[in-house]
Amino acid sequence: MAYHHYTLILLLAVQLENGHATGSRCKIRKFPHGFMFGTATSSYQIEGAWNVDGKTENIWDRLTHTRQYLVRDQSSGDTTDNSYYLYKRDVEMLRELGVDFYRFSISWTRILPTSFPDKINKAGVAYYNNLINELLKHNIKPVVTIFHWDLPQKLQDLGGWANPYIVDWYADYARTLFKLFGDRVKYWVTINEPHQVCYFAYGDKILAPALDIKGVAEYLCAKNVLLAHATAYHIYDKEFRPKQKGIVFISLSAQWYEPLYKNQSKAAFDANQFEWEQYSHPIFSKTGDFPPAMKKRIAERSAEQGFPRSRLPEFTPQEIQFIRGSSDFFGLNHYLTNYVSRNKSVYGYYESPSFNDDLGVFFHVLPEWTIGQSNFTKFVPWGFYKLLTYIRKEYGNPTVFITENGFSTYGGRIDNDRVLYYTEYLSAMLDAMEEGSDVQAYTAWSLMDNFEWTYGYTEKFGVYEVDFSTPERKRTPRKSAYVLREIFQTHLLNRCYIPDMKVPMAIT
Ligand code: NOJ
Repeated sequence: MAYHHYTLILLLAVQLENGHATGSRCKIRKFPHGFMFGTATSSYQIEGAWNVDGKTENIWDRLTHTRQYLVRDQSSGDTTDNSYYLYKRDVEMLRELGVDFYRFSISWTRILPTSFPDKINKAGVAYYNNLINELLKHNIKPVVTIFHWDLPQKLQDLGGWANPYIVDWYADYARTLFKLFGDRVKYWVTINEPHQVCYFAYGDKILAPALDIKGVAEYLCAKNVLLAHATAYHIYDKEFRPKQKGIVFISLSAQWYEPLYKNQSKAAFDANQFEWEQYSHPIFSKTGDFPPAMKKRIAERSAEQGFPRSRLPEFTPQEIQFIRGSSDFFGLNHYLTNYVSRNKSVYGYYESPSFNDDLGVFFHVLPEWTIGQSNFTKFVPWGFYKLLTYIRKEYGNPTVFITENGFSTYGGRIDNDRVLYYTEYLSAMLDAMEEGSDVQAYTAWSLMDNFEWTYGYTEKFGVYEVDFSTPERKRTPRKSAYVLREIFQTHLLNRCYIPDMKVPMAIT
């Protein structure tokens, strides 16, 4: 795939600007029969109602209420999209788009106010029952994420993902959900983006609980997250799958790391190993366990630093077997690509010990990769193609469920940059599929603007715009919503399609 990035972007920008385009880019491409499309959200990012009907405090409530300085606009998810009350409108939007499924998450403390299954909150159960039933009534499959970052504060006080007992606490919570909703929910995502949970929240202060205990906490977390995920998988397999016949998988966030120069392939290899294969290798490889390159490097660095043992904890042989194969699909969240390099000056550049010091690479982006105002997401469709191709070759062509892909802007309904991003990324995905990658579903992040974690409401990912200044939280479709609707409903990708936004979005 030899794209000339800058030229391509300029060309596409001109084409979109002129409202027409020519050449092979306009050739219509088909998605295979049975391919599924959907959009996604998560509980803390959209629900609001943070303290009503028995819900108790989670780590995002605590962070936004006590450490506002960590959030770019000092905002919170206290009300956000108010979907706890407006879920019917959300389902209406999903019907307008013509999705096959909706990926949303369940708030742990809304269901289990004590964090444990000794008490089940009826109002919380009713909310998710209503949402699930409303979706099914309209033929939309619920794809439910069990854990999307809103850990009960009480469990955090006990150490959260750094405490090995969390394996049981999480498993009890997962079992509760399988019991309550598994008669109707057939797709379960155990944990969303483990690397982000562990690295950004335990090894840094970019996500709650913002512990920032570098080079130690993120690795304790990694081991426990993998064991918790596998425990939930095996519980489903033994206790629920025979009757419920569903699918259980994990969502890994994988960006693509490409060598800056030809002789930098080891640096790029290491970046991929550390950043996401830390989680895919234990689950999807033939041998299981953390990637060998990572184990070796962290053990060596730990010894040099005077630690009596590696800061990366070990798995027992039984645990390795228990985790290996514990995901029916490869759930993939993908947003961006980085070039990577390494030279001597990297040693000593990052704080030590730390994940970045262990990995020891520099990251680079090209200025022309950025489209639109926001620097948050980069436009590198060939990186998506390369990532999918690598997964196919490295992991024996697992079934891939794209659980997130999307683009952020600073607002505006004519979101040509987002349209360009979606259509080119879908096309890159089709390139990989035509060469054999078994991708069966694609999820656009996000259905609507929402609370973007420590970016607050400054970064907007929605295909529906939300007016946060009024209590109604009015949702209005952007141009990208019209374009996705066309793709979802026809199962065709026409990168030159220009919607007529004067025609209101309606359920067809
Ligand atoms: C990753 C997360 O799963 C989601 O919560 C977040 O909003 C998006 N990607 C965009 O950053």
